[in-house]
Amino acid sequence: MAAHASYEKEYVSRTKKSRAHWEKVKKHIPAGVESNVRLFDPHPFYVKRAKGPYLWDLDGNKIIDFALGYGPMILGHNHPAVAKAVKAQVDKGTMFGASAEMAYEYVSMVKKALPSIEMFRFANSGTEATMHPLRVARAFTGKEKIAKPEGSYHGGHDYVLQALDIPADKLVDKRHQPATPFGKGIPKCISDLVVVYPFNDWEATEDVLTRNADDLAAVIIEPIQAGGGCFIPRDNYLKKLRKLTKELGIVLIFDEVLTGFRVALGGAQERYDVKPDITAIAKIAGGGYQLAGFGGKKEIMDEITPKEGGNVYHGGTYNAHPVSVTAGLATLKILSKPGTYKKIDAIGDSLFHGLKDVAEDRGVDVWVESAGSLGQLYFTDHEIKTWRDAVDIDGEKWRHWFMHSLGKGVFFGVPHADEHFFTSLVHSEGDIQKALEVSDEAFKQIAKQ
Ligand SMILES: Cc1ncc(COP(=O)(O)O)c(C=O)c1O
Repeated sequence: MAAHASYEKEYVSRTKKSRAHWEKVKKHIPAGVESNVRLFDPHPFYVKRAKGPYLWDLDGNKIIDFALGYGPMILGHNHPAVAKAVKAQVDKGTMFGASAEMAYEYVSMVKKALPSIEMFRFANSGTEATMHPLRVARAFTGKEKIAKPEGSYHGGHDYVLQALDIPADKLVDKRHQPATPFGKGIPKCISDLVVVYPFNDWEATEDVLTRNADDLAAVIIEPIQAGGGCFIPRDNYLKKLRKLTKELGIVLIFDEVLTGFRVALGGAQERYDVKPDITAIAKIAGGGYQLAGFGGKKEIMDEITPKEGGNVYHGGTYNAHPVSVTAGLATLKILSKPGTYKKIDAIGDSLFHGLKDVAEDRGVDVWVESAGSLGQLYFTDHEIKTWRDAVDIDGEKWRHWFMHSLGKGVFFGVPHADEHFFTSLVHSEGDIQKALEVSDEAFKQIAKQ
């Protein structure tokens, strides 16, 4: 076994059962995890149960969770109202095949929260929720290409697994960055159908989209780019994008899989007052169960309706799964209560602003980007505005902070330097205080290096 850095020794000594489990399961499950993002050095921990803002691992450690299921658990784990509703639904039947009445109640709630959605279809994952509307947009416009930001993540289908995690030596002029497949197994010809633009750099975005307008069916964007970290839109970037795509006849798709119901009930489109043509939602939408969907303008969504002359395929065995819809409804009802997002944002601010203050007090250069309960801590001495700004962040310092904190029972989110973390409605002041204290210890050590 490789020697461990001093900052990971406590984690290693406290997670011996997780280590043994990992050694066992990786012979049967590639890398020993069910999604590659869960893997990190020196080994991942395995969870036995979760409640509120806490996880308990195989070794019995209680962990303050800022990963929150990688986004969905904004109410914390196993919220009593969601659990009660789900148990009642299980007794009534879990899988109907034929459509259930409750789907309409859910769609009505989604439409109220996100008024840009006139019609909505269900899916089961964020991947599906971005895959289907791209096809709908191609049918609607009669064009074939899509544009996506460099570094952005929109799920695991070939069209969007492009220009992600581009190595520094492969970066070229930001107006001409080619689409390159992320990982092996993606046909080269798909990249020819993808155009890449830089989120938050208006001049370059305008140039890329204008030059390619005749071929572009859709522009997909996370209105706060969380793929590759956390990048908050500046200088009316989204409003300019809305205006330009309308002028150019390109369907604007907001991927609100992660930001939907997180940065406001109506997602980032409410926070920044911009209406896309189509929105994809998932994660919080299902309150911890597999539920997703996409919706938007009637005339575009109508491409799905069977009719003479053909239509766009959309289907799925588990679409609008009754248990997931029930969990989603219970979650959205709680989130709809007045004052909820004020509280969620205040908890987020206390953690993200607090981390910045604590690091600065220790003389450690950091940049914190956050919008309420979503954010990231970058170890850098410069501003982080675009994905390119984060290419040279200090991954070793991030690892030191992350692993030190995890050893002390604080899980700062998706376990990679170019990701992000979340707060929930149920993190207490004490949880935030503890997170700041363990971070302060890490920053003190980092400052000495
Ligand atoms: C912005 C965004 N879009 C799409 C996806 C894909 O969602 P899923 O993992 O449910 O397929 C994710 C997942 O992290 C995401 O963050």
